[in-house]
Amino acid sequence: MTILDGKGTAQEIRKELKEKVESLKNNGERPPHLAAVLVGDDGPSHTYVNAKVKDCRQIGYESTLVDLPATISEKDLLDKVDQLNNDDNIDGFIVQLPLPDHIDENEIIAAINPNKDVDGFHPENFGRMALNLPSFISATPRGIVELLDRYDIETEGKHCVVIGRSNIVGTPISILMSRNNKVGNATVTVTHSRTKNLKEITQQADIVIAAIGNPYFLKAEMVKEGAVVIDVGMSRVEDASKKRGYRLAGDVDFDKVKEKASHITPVPGGVGPMTRAALLLNTFRAYSIKK
Ligand code: GUN
Repeated sequence: MTILDGKGTAQEIRKELKEKVESLKNNGERPPHLAAVLVGDDGPSHTYVNAKVKDCRQIGYESTLVDLPATISEKDLLDKVDQLNNDDNIDGFIVQLPLPDHIDENEIIAAINPNKDVDGFHPENFGRMALNLPSFISATPRGIVELLDRYDIETEGKHCVVIGRSNIVGTPISILMSRNNKVGNATVTVTHSRTKNLKEITQQADIVIAAIGNPYFLKAEMVKEGAVVIDVGMSRVEDASKKRGYRLAGDVDFDKVKEKASHITPVPGGVGPMTRAALLLNTFRAYSIKK
């Protein structure tokens, strides 16, 4: 059984990008610049955005954190998006989700310039991704594809079962896995909360991608011997023995499932770091398009 080391792979990607940035700087060019918009004080969002900004600094990108109050109006947030769209010093930006209830996330995403939409959430990027045209692919699906690619995991003709159909993970990864790409050409089944006989379906999977946000949901008896198991879950579960009072829990019952899997991602240290690395790759793409 092979543990798919997302942490180490992400480190490799950051090293490659850092070298590219250094050579840009040596040629007198400015580095890529990512901005991240954070609205309100959602705990996990703060952690994620701070990590994204830190990653940028580590590899020599410029980064700007735009910290806005939870009470901001939709109109003022749209104005901020417009300002970032028109700021030539910023190559790409993200608006961290979730947004406060009084703001329509779809309106905000639709207002982002697709060429700066490094999250790949804009309908134009999503559509281009589905059509297999050059696009920004959202960070988690892109991170998963990159991880499968770097571990040379064969996907062609395999049965890939995706658990979850969210806009940012389940749906895009199921499309990507089915497209005619190096990582792709799989036969994909998308499952979700209304799926009947889930266990019978996951038992047939050569590759399982669990993206439901339900701690330890995928049990060993749901997995075929030799399956590749990708765990997208990152729930916070109370744990008094941890300094922070919680631990990160994946969607996979890792200790048991690893006994059956051929390859498996751990949590933490699997898909999470790859998601962060994918955002850096997307930001480099935004920078390259602009030049
Ligand atoms: N919330 C959870 N994941 C993400 C992400 O990848 N991007 C943004 N903008 N918000 C998120």
